[in-house]
Amino acid sequence: MESRCYSQVFNLTLNNFDNNNVNRIAPSSRKRNLSLQKRIKSNTMPDKIIIAIDGYSSCGKSTVAKDLARKLGYAYIDSGAMYRSVTLFALRNNWIVDGKPDREKIINGLGQISITFRFNKETGQNTTFLNGENVEERIRGLDVSNNVSPVSAIKEVRQAMVKLQRQIGKKKGIVMDGRDIGTVVFPHAELKIFMTASPEIRAKRRYDELVAKGQQVSMEEIIANINERDYIDQNRQESPLRQAEDAIVLDNSNFTLEGQLEWALKRALEIINRKNEGRN
Ligand code: DC
Repeated sequence: MESRCYSQVFNLTLNNFDNNNVNRIAPSSRKRNLSLQKRIKSNTMPDKIIIAIDGYSSCGKSTVAKDLARKLGYAYIDSGAMYRSVTLFALRNNWIVDGKPDREKIINGLGQISITFRFNKETGQNTTFLNGENVEERIRGLDVSNNVSPVSAIKEVRQAMVKLQRQIGKKKGIVMDGRDIGTVVFPHAELKIFMTASPEIRAKRRYDELVAKGQQVSMEEIIANINERDYIDQNRQESPLRQAEDAIVLDNSNFTLEGQLEWALKRALEIINRKNEGRN
């Protein structure tokens, strides 16, 4: 049965979020390897930090974020999945017509939306549920991608998401990726990474990802979608995508997956160790 392999991580019901339901188990903490423990200089439980990863669409934020969370035994939260879930709900209710979201209907409908992240023990990944339905694959489709930017530009949608994201981050030990995590959601995050990669590389990665999932797409569609999302994300009035002043830039155009993880892990451990040294 599908439910057997899931354990609840976060239950984000938009109209009645209950912080006590937040299960702080860091899913992979038990698997944290010995070499990492040697790199954390602490005799006691090390202090946890918040890691904010922002950047353009399709530049590999979620890959670094997931890998980093797994290594550190932190929870990974994909804030884009929340905006995608709201968009899917709006599409299904015909609240978006010809690419134009009906603001009022979406704002009034927020109370009907429950977004849940559950940890899938088999894949080792979080899975997104919308009102109890597994939408992890569905929210990655082009119809959602084509409509998510205007939906995420709605002030009230952002306010609701930011509120939930801050609740999740209350106890730290979290890696969250998005567009405004270091600037708006967690302006005091201990580590802020701003990711970028060349447009050709981003388009190719997105294309490969969708084709691998069996979706029929063209490179032209992907490039048009990436360009449009970049434009809206950077130019919207509400929390536009921008690099936080204290963020460090990771251009991963020429990094291997291992290389970018090591780069990020090194920075995270420097901060965690500095924090622990201050405490000891
Ligand atoms: O990370 P992603 O591509 O799955 O995000 C989907 C969309 O959601 C993206 O076009 C912009 C929006 N988004 C946002 O506005 N703020 C965030 N923190 C995360 C995503």
